[in-house]
Amino acid sequence: MSKEIVVSGIRSTGHLHLGNYFGAIQNYIKMQDAYNCYFFVADYHSLTTHPDPKDLKANVFRVVSENIASGLDPEKVALYAQSDLPEIPELYLMLNMNAYMGELEKVPTFKDKVRQQPDNVNAGLLTYPVLMAADILIHRAVKVPVGKDQEPEVFRFNNDTVKIMSLDGTGKMSKSENINATIYLSDDDDTIKKKIMKAKTDAGPTEANAVMPDYIQNLFLLMHLSSKPEIVDIYRSAYNNCNIRYGDMKKQLAEDMAAFVRPIREHATELQKDEQKLRKILKDGAEKARESASKNIAEARKLIGINYY
Ligand code: TRP
Repeated sequence: MSKEIVVSGIRSTGHLHLGNYFGAIQNYIKMQDAYNCYFFVADYHSLTTHPDPKDLKANVFRVVSENIASGLDPEKVALYAQSDLPEIPELYLMLNMNAYMGELEKVPTFKDKVRQQPDNVNAGLLTYPVLMAADILIHRAVKVPVGKDQEPEVFRFNNDTVKIMSLDGTGKMSKSENINATIYLSDDDDTIKKKIMKAKTDAGPTEANAVMPDYIQNLFLLMHLSSKPEIVDIYRSAYNNCNIRYGDMKKQLAEDMAAFVRPIREHATELQKDEQKLRKILKDGAEKARESASKNIAEARKLIGINYY
């Protein structure tokens, strides 16, 4: 039986962080055997914010390296750059004819952008979701994995997907905001330790088995993801018995998280130096992806009536 098709886009701006790792990449890795996966770097989407042309290539290569270092296997999935598939903009143009202004203007992310960047409300921003639809439909994907915090909840491969909050207790870890409260996969040991030691805590619980504030829960979640279960248990009991020392907990977490991120960072750094290898991965990925894209675009053309010869 042929496997179901899954498509997901990876933003190429900003550095990957623990929220991306535990929220999305781990999910990708679990899916790569069970599904026919098309994962791509959404470089066209990044153009809505007019990045410096000099930065694009490094951004794309970095995000590809970090995903592979995290365990994504280009032998198992088609890993490619969106801009290597001309079929995508072609389908995007067709879909735009059926995307109505009234609906596009109502999309919450568009409204957010209008508020955030009132001087750059370009048409690409308005039709951003149409380009996403083209990304997905070009392979006739049936499933699209999304983060826990994204609406609508289309498809989650497993329910362990987690949302990592930023260490200052305000919102989630982010590629571009809360930089000092976000742990990036490119952060060195020292930076990770410093960030964790500065994480928000408080005077501690005053009654046994108290409900945890969300920023403390987040520290326990990070500990659960990077430390041995026995260690998490020690601190959990300490919390429940009101004798937890957050300084000690953070020191332990800092050690364990640094050890967790280290091999990923080192592998990603190594890959980024091997441009030839990265170029080959993206070329092979694009070739795999174009097989399905060219078939489907031909069908779309026919359906519309663009088949003259
Ligand atoms: N917009 C998504 C993001 O910001 C990336 C993306 C682009 C995507 N096209 C997609 C995700 C298609 C899923 C399917 O992360």
